[in-house]
Amino acid sequence: MKIPVRMRRLRRNPGIRRLMEETSFEPRNLVQPYFVVPGTGILKEVKPGYGLWHVSADKLLEEVQPLAKAGVGGVMLFGVPDEKSDDPKRLSAQLAPLTDGIKRLKDALPTLPLFADCCLCSFTTHGHCGVVEGDQIVNDKSVELLSHFAVLLGQAGVDFVSPSDMMDGRVAAMRAALDGEGLTSVSILSYAVKMASAFYGPFRDAAHSAPSFGDRASYQQPANNRREALREVDLDVAEGADALLIKPAMTNLDLIRDARERCDLPLFAYQVSGEYAMIRAAADAGLMDFERAIRESITSIRRAGADVVVSYYARPLLRR
Ligand code: PBG
Repeated sequence: MKIPVRMRRLRRNPGIRRLMEETSFEPRNLVQPYFVVPGTGILKEVKPGYGLWHVSADKLLEEVQPLAKAGVGGVMLFGVPDEKSDDPKRLSAQLAPLTDGIKRLKDALPTLPLFADCCLCSFTTHGHCGVVEGDQIVNDKSVELLSHFAVLLGQAGVDFVSPSDMMDGRVAAMRAALDGEGLTSVSILSYAVKMASAFYGPFRDAAHSAPSFGDRASYQQPANNRREALREVDLDVAEGADALLIKPAMTNLDLIRDARERCDLPLFAYQVSGEYAMIRAAADAGLMDFERAIRESITSIRRAGADVVVSYYARPLLRR
């Protein structure tokens, strides 16, 4: 048969396929999240197999060390306090396990990139990402408190603060607050695109951060709007973000590509708890192979344009 172009020639054997591979991911492209809880001696997967780990500050190093050895790109820490409070004066005490964890990791592994989430939802009684007055999430007071939050994380020694709150103006305010405290080398990884998503369910269980009233639609973005998402990207660039993050990942592959072509900042995508859980549950139900499915998903996120993928898969991949 006369077939002018035969695509299968370049897929003939594993060696040729490997040579022609355009996109892949290595350990350094992955960042592993952890939930830092008060107490000692705690290392527990919230639901076995679903990738969300509670860990106390004293166990963090022994947990992270093998990942660092295996070449993980970095670790992202979320604080989960025992006590919820809406009093800004309590924040530093509520953050103590997290800042303790940051210090311990930085001491022992000074060059391992360390990220810490900067958001109020796990810390407040109402579970919203900002300051609440009546039934409103008020922007500017939230930004002030979040800037203070960022400074506390910076003082503990974190490399990147990661604002996931989605208040307006917080990147510029955090930059100014950090610089004002002499923390000029602390970077801001800003959540530029964060959809009001159904895919955060397992995370909210792990972080005890579900809102007690209403939802997050007045600050997180609607999945319907592409142009609005790109305005968020432009704003975070203009406000001085050092790197951008988009999440969820698999439902926003188009926006990852858009952001990649629009700006030259390093681009992160967060494969969130619900994305991971979806693949895990399908695999548990015998519907697909877990390893193949999760690798395909991460490869696709990289192909869309993400440099770094925050994923609960880093740990199972690197601790075998
Ligand atoms: C906090 C925050 C959330 C996630 C990261 N930071 C949850 C939310 O906004 O409700 C989700 C991450 C995940 O699902 O893995 N604002």
